[in-house]
Formats: sequence, C-alpha cells, structure tokens
Amino acid sequence: MTPSPLPYRIGYGEDAHRLTEGRALVLGGVPIPHAERGAVAHSDGDAVLHALADALLSGMSLGDIGQYYPDTDPAHAGLDSRVILADSLALVREWKYVPANVALVITLDRPKLGPLRADIARNVAALLGLNETEVGVSFKTSEGLAPDHVQVRVTVLLRRVEQ
Ligand code: C5P
Ligand code: MG
Repeated sequence: MTPSPLPYRIGYGEDAHRLTEGRALVLGGVPIPHAERGAVAHSDGDAVLHALADALLSGMSLGDIGQYYPDTDPAHAGLDSRVILADSLALVREWKYVPANVALVITLDRPKLGPLRADIARNVAALLGLNETEVGVSFKTSEGLAPDHVQVRVTVLLRRVEQ
C-alpha cells in the first residue's frame, strides 16, 4: 500500500543484543576499543545500525528488518549491517522521503562511550547522507539492571522531498 504523503513521518526502532566474550563490539559502524565483550548475533551485531534500519522502515510503515533479513536464513549470517541500513534507506528514498534528523540512545554499562560520541555521530550521519549535527547520540547505563546486554533506541524524522 502506498504510504500517505505526509510532509514528515516519525520512525522509531529498537535493538538489543546479549554480550559475550570473544566478540568485537561495533556500534554505529565504530569499533569500540577496550570493550571486554561484543554482541551475540547472527549478523555483525551492530545494534545501532539495526535499530536505525528499523526506525527508517517504521517511519514509512514498511515493517521491520526481520521481514527482509530473517535471521533463520543462513545466507544472512555475518551480514554487514551497513547493507541492511543502505537497503532500508533506499526504500525510504523510493517513497520520496529522506532522513531529516536522528536521535539515538545506547544503553550499555561498560565501557564508557562518551569519548566516542563524535565518531558515532559522524559515522551514522555519513551513512544517512546527514551532517553530524543532525545525529544526536546519548548514552545510558542500565544502573546494573542489564549488565549483559547492549540496548539501542532510535527515532528518526523523515522529510518528504518535493517531486
Ligand atoms: O546512565 P547514567 O545516567 O548513569 O549515565 C551517566 C553518564 O555516563 C551520561 O553522561 C552518559 O553519557 C555516560 N555514559 C557513557 N557510557 C556509557 C554509559 C553512560 O559515557 N556506556
Ligand atoms: Mg541486531
């Protein structure tokens, strides 16, 4: 069904992964140095890019990435999350929308991510064709309530481009 041509559409996405030793932790395409554990995942486990792709699809009422990349399909093992994001962005653009700005929250107890805020914002912005001031990056600890997982929540504003 054709998404109604609203001037703006809000998208929201979430992703969570369990953390385990022996895996690298990558968030928003940025490898996190000194992370003791990384994400357990069928793909590369970049929870920021997964939540962001879901937010893009959500904004267009196009479902979620599990429909396009079922994790039961061995063809998707180790899949680069940038491909998932690029495909989701292409769908948004097909419907004549572009991201206007993004706000994302990463909940992780350790390590501290503050020093990587600008790197993550720049990297995510580049993947979306935005500048870094259009990507807000916040960090939270779970206060020890969920020390074994990383959680990401993303909102995105989509703007209709005139044709
Ligand atoms: O969650 P909490 O309120 O304790 O977070 C306090 C501060 O720690 C925030 O300013 C946040 O940016 C920072 N933080 C961080 N890296 C994390 C979690 C929180 O830099 N992994
Ligand atoms: Mg994921």
